[in-house]
Amino acid sequence: MADTDLSTLLLKWYDANGRSLPWRVKGGAHPNPYVILVSEFMLQQTTVKTVIPYFHRFMDRFPTIQALAAADIEEVYQLWQGLGYYTRARSLHTTAQMIVNDFGGKFPEQRQDVLKLKGIGAYTVASFLALAFNQPETVIDGNVMRIIARLYHLIDSLDDIADTIRLKAEALTSHEHPADYASAIMDLGATVCTPKNPQCLLCPWAKYCQSKGAADVEQIPIRRKLEKKEKHGSIYLIYNSKDEVLIRKRTEKGLLSGLYEFPWTDEGVLFVDAEDTQNEVTHVFTHFKLTLRIYKLRIETSPICDGFFIFPETLKNYPFSTLMKKVIKLLPQKDTK
Ligand code: ADE
Repeated sequence: MADTDLSTLLLKWYDANGRSLPWRVKGGAHPNPYVILVSEFMLQQTTVKTVIPYFHRFMDRFPTIQALAAADIEEVYQLWQGLGYYTRARSLHTTAQMIVNDFGGKFPEQRQDVLKLKGIGAYTVASFLALAFNQPETVIDGNVMRIIARLYHLIDSLDDIADTIRLKAEALTSHEHPADYASAIMDLGATVCTPKNPQCLLCPWAKYCQSKGAADVEQIPIRRKLEKKEKHGSIYLIYNSKDEVLIRKRTEKGLLSGLYEFPWTDEGVLFVDAEDTQNEVTHVFTHFKLTLRIYKLRIETSPICDGFFIFPETLKNYPFSTLMKKVIKLLPQKDTK
């Protein structure tokens, strides 16, 4: 079957079965590129279900690119709290400022201009241009790779078939209805061609799928297993005599930057005479799993230059990562209410 016919079949399926999502319109480009920008940033590494309430709160507070550009980054972090991958929040904020200041508030429509923005890689440039401007861009994420690998029964390791997948995915992309096509293939991956238990009976491509009914369909695509590295460390609840607890703001670039935290390390210990609370928190990041043992100690003045003491009841006024929130949950409840 010709690629264009496959794409027509998928578009028909989408028309009848595509999901209604708060950032989505059917039948072409979304009229407001800002909606696409915010949702695509949130959807990088996060599921649709998790994103929906965050998206609504964010759009209520920052309804326009100008409102976001003018916002205090702390407030952006507050609204991002719990969504993870906080670099995205900072990049989205910077991107909003670039669009307002460098592009006069007009959303760029050229690939090379969109790539100048912060936090936008190969996937997001394609999804943004397809969904906001109906440009024939090909979105390729894990879902799309799975669909294509199954459709053509590509059973080598994903690393080895990535180029073939790209070519085939590009060939299938609709040039007449690129926005709908991008949404359609995302929905096919999320609701039909799922990693486990794919719903082949509901698939518009089933008749042409070389993996349909194959015993190995759930194994496709083949991923080389990477063991998640395990890291261990310690985290310190430092109280002064007023029972205030010490926090600091992460300023380093990268993981969790801009958020607040209790002092911690994954290399040895910071305070040898701290009391072991016997509690631990664990968090799984993209490339490693971090377990921190919680220690307690009393010190009157901050032992680190950027640390400061606050009453535990006011912890809720600061943005913390999910990992730090797990520590806060273990504090005596009266402290954090
Ligand atoms: N994943 C990434 N972008 C998406 C979108 N616009 N809709 C659904 N899932 C997505």
